[in-house]
Amino acid sequence: MDIISLQPTQISLPPLAVAQDVPICIRQANSDDVEPIVRLVNFYAAQELMLPKTPAAIYGNLFGCVVADADGELAGCASLKLTYNNPAEIISLAVRPEFQGRQVGSQLILSLLDKAAALKIPTVFALTLRPTLFERLGFQRVHKNTLPHKVWNECSVCPKQDRCDEIAVLRDAHCA
Ligand SMILES: CC(C)(COP(=O)(O)OP(=O)(O)OC[C@H]1O[C@@H](n2cnc3c(N)ncnc32)[C@H](O)[C@@H]1OP(=O)(O)O)[C@@H](O)C(=O)NCCC(=O)NCCS
Repeated sequence: MDIISLQPTQISLPPLAVAQDVPICIRQANSDDVEPIVRLVNFYAAQELMLPKTPAAIYGNLFGCVVADADGELAGCASLKLTYNNPAEIISLAVRPEFQGRQVGSQLILSLLDKAAALKIPTVFALTLRPTLFERLGFQRVHKNTLPHKVWNECSVCPKQDRCDEIAVLRDAHCA
């Protein structure tokens, strides 16, 4: 897995080109979304809130990715990462600061739960600094050690690998 060093141009967001109160819809991501997604994710990665991503990584998992579309502007994104014989993981959840607190993050998570259900994947987890966001949607806190070892692959590129402060949350559709 590549170590990604963020350039100064990657750690700011372009000005918002739409009004903050435009309606937002959640939809499947497409190839036009890759660049804005990378920019949003790496904006927060620079603040050590999430892992940085390359365009190739986002494109490679585009099918698992949903976006919040604010009249053509990217308001948020989230992705479902699949690993064979393991629960699916919600990764790269981010909402532009101007759109936070309007349940866009919650709607993105719910959309990924629908995606998992359509794929008959009953168990979904996340590693997060915002556990209550997930708990409100039926996730429960679990000990990180209960997650399969394979899910720790990305930790090798995390700047906080020796001081991990993320909380594991898991939702089992059979119990929710
Ligand atoms: C985390 C993040 C994605 C949340 O996005 P958001 O659109 O603001 O999320 P929501 O509006 O659904 O929820 C935000 C807050 O609104 C309030 N809220 C949302 N739904 C609510 C409800 N049904 N009842 C009461 N309060 C509610 C809560 O205070 C909630 O924060 P909390 O769950 O931590 O307590 C966004 O803050 C973000 O992009 N952060 C930076 C990147 C990041 O940390 N990514 C990793 C996330 S795992």
